[in-house]
Amino acid sequence: RLRWPGILEAYRSALPIEDGAELVSLGEGGTLLRYAPHLSERVGARVFLKLEGLNPTGSFKDRGMALAVTNAKARGARAVICASTGNTSAAAAAYARAAGLASVVVVPSAGIARGKLAQALLYGARVVAIEGSFDDALVAVRQLAEADGVALVNSVNPDRLEGQKTVAFEIVDQLGDAPTVQVMPVGNAGNITASWRGYREAHAAGATTRLPRMVGVQAEGAAPIVRGEVVEHPETIASAIRIGRPASWQGALNATSDSGGTVLAVSDDAILEAYILLAREESVFCEPASAASVAGLLRLDLARSDTVVCILTGHGLKDPDTALRTVEGPVPSSAGLDAIARAAGLA
Ligand code: F0G
Repeated sequence: RLRWPGILEAYRSALPIEDGAELVSLGEGGTLLRYAPHLSERVGARVFLKLEGLNPTGSFKDRGMALAVTNAKARGARAVICASTGNTSAAAAAYARAAGLASVVVVPSAGIARGKLAQALLYGARVVAIEGSFDDALVAVRQLAEADGVALVNSVNPDRLEGQKTVAFEIVDQLGDAPTVQVMPVGNAGNITASWRGYREAHAAGATTRLPRMVGVQAEGAAPIVRGEVVEHPETIASAIRIGRPASWQGALNATSDSGGTVLAVSDDAILEAYILLAREESVFCEPASAASVAGLLRLDLARSDTVVCILTGHGLKDPDTALRTVEGPVPSSAGLDAIARAAGLA
């Protein structure tokens, strides 16, 4: 039980690993699926939180990056490149380092969370911060990746989705069946596409009796799929999903319509309320984009018999600035005992 081998070994037979590839793993996957008693009470169904922030770089991206970097290296890449709202860049930088490859990440200069930037820089990526959006960055890296020896590791790389589908396999193992509903944030829409594939494969293999309704959640100011049109200037506090032209748009539509689910838009206020509620009621600190799943959950019509999994995609420590702007700061005090007691509310 203490020997989780990482997703590449755990799910090897279900993954398209290049022949003879040396596996590049940092122990990703094997994350907790935690029952959420207060949320369950609130919505009148059984609710579980899949804590993807517990991955090695603090987000679900590690699942896809393990396979993408493994195969890129096996195919002879010298470097990996990606566009990112932050988490992909942290994962790309970490896995490239583990593989002995260089990494280049292109991020919007405005609004990537500071923890993510710190990670990419510390892992030694070349970080290019552009005056533009994630969507602009993705257009650029698609072209730059045409250079020899440079592998694109955004979720338009099929290996990313293959790696990320493993979250569904794990949930099925942990619950003993598929949930009836899965709720998750949607940005570039790779993850919902991947997860749905994972459930369908688990179902086809006889590991589940059912398939979940897939519910994708976008932020109101960055909700191209809900609105049915590209958003030129996406805006939301949830910087991870500040995306106006999702690459896997069709994948998200297929996942939600084929499963009888839906894509919802939630306001930034609703995201922040869910963010605080998760911390105060379930003692979970996730990043704002992840809290969007719970904001979506609170909007659903559920039955007592429903088993719901909310994917909490990234760790709260990724984005300390949003946390500190959202709640009251510390109470200042002089160092004397009386003052501290008063400040502490104990006098
Ligand atoms: N949650 C978090 C924390 C994310 O970082 C992302 C995407 C998503 C949800 C949405 O997943 O794009 O597959 O629909 N982050 C990407 C990045 C875009 O660059 O880190 P998606």
